[in-house]
Amino acid sequence: MSNETVPFSSTSMLQISDQFDHFQIKGHIAQGGMSDIYRAYDLLSGKEVALKIPDKSIIGDPAQYERFQRELEVMRTLDHPAIQKGLGSGRFNNTPYLVTELVGGESMRELVKRNTPLDPAKAVNLTRKIADGLAHCHDHDIIHRDVKPENILIGGDGQPVILDFGLALTKGSHRVTYANLSNTAGTPDYMAPEQIEGHRGDRRTDLYALGVILFELLTGRPPFTGDNHLAVMAQHLKGGLPRLDKVQPGVSPQLAAVVARCLRRDPDERYADMHALIHDLDNLDQVDTAILDEATQPNTVARFWRSPMMVPIGIAILLLAAIIALAFGLQALHK
Ligand SMILES: Nc1ncnc2c1ncn2[C@@H]1O[C@H](COP(=O)(O)OP(=O)(O)O)[C@@H](O)[C@H]1O
Ligand SMILES: [Mg+2]
Repeated sequence: MSNETVPFSSTSMLQISDQFDHFQIKGHIAQGGMSDIYRAYDLLSGKEVALKIPDKSIIGDPAQYERFQRELEVMRTLDHPAIQKGLGSGRFNNTPYLVTELVGGESMRELVKRNTPLDPAKAVNLTRKIADGLAHCHDHDIIHRDVKPENILIGGDGQPVILDFGLALTKGSHRVTYANLSNTAGTPDYMAPEQIEGHRGDRRTDLYALGVILFELLTGRPPFTGDNHLAVMAQHLKGGLPRLDKVQPGVSPQLAAVVARCLRRDPDERYADMHALIHDLDNLDQVDTAILDEATQPNTVARFWRSPMMVPIGIAILLLAAIIALAFGLQALHK
């Protein structure tokens, strides 16, 4: 969603010009998975900020205040152009809230909708910048665990900014597990197989999600799709990956190999960390493409000709050809 202020909907809690603690509401920016984001003027600092206020569904949840505190703590641990900056948190009228720096630009979801398939060089460039931000998180022992275009803003200068550390895993954190938030976590399109299986996830879980994003940037759709969440999850666990260099014009085998490595089902077979991925994105000409043979499905035509069914079909065709040839031969003899 664009960060242009949109009119309040009737379900929005706050209205333009309302005062909420020391903030004056200027507009509703977006509705997230579990919260509403407002553009607000901070009467104390004299700056415009983004105010995150929990959705009605979780507003009475006593753990929410603590979650926002943690989200702020995570953001304060980090300092990187690709990471949203946290400014504060608080509670007003029993409603917890989180204050973050206002980011201009638009949601990456909008860019994906409008501009994909993206030129491979641009897709690589954008992915690399997001990988850089995630490497910074991982170097500080923070795993995001909810990397998806909805949680990334693209600034006017093209700089991606990763937000929403609501599900982030930090060293020693054990209270907020993925399991107890997964009901509200939204789309499974970016969920790694180990997350689907209920594991906490590690840096390679974020790497998988970034692989899904790169795939989507290159093709315009995520690699695993289905009619409902369960179908998508089943695809993540069992579905075959197409060879991007065969199905998507302009994608080199090297870039297809990078995507395939990010999307390996077994985390041990993915890149070990974001730095290894960044290295390959920066040196695409040196990427080994051997992985494509085992990590991707051959294209359907090739698979058809190589399928075991082709043996009896092949024999039948040969027999038929022999019979026809014989018939023609006999006919010729009779003349
Ligand atoms: N600081 C910000 N500046 C501009 N837009 C923001 C900011 N923070 C969030 N948004 C917008 O609000 C949406 C929801 O924010 P997010 O933190 O992901 O909430 P949730 O945890 O409910 O998913 C984002 O997708 C983004 O479009
Ligand atoms: Mg979100």
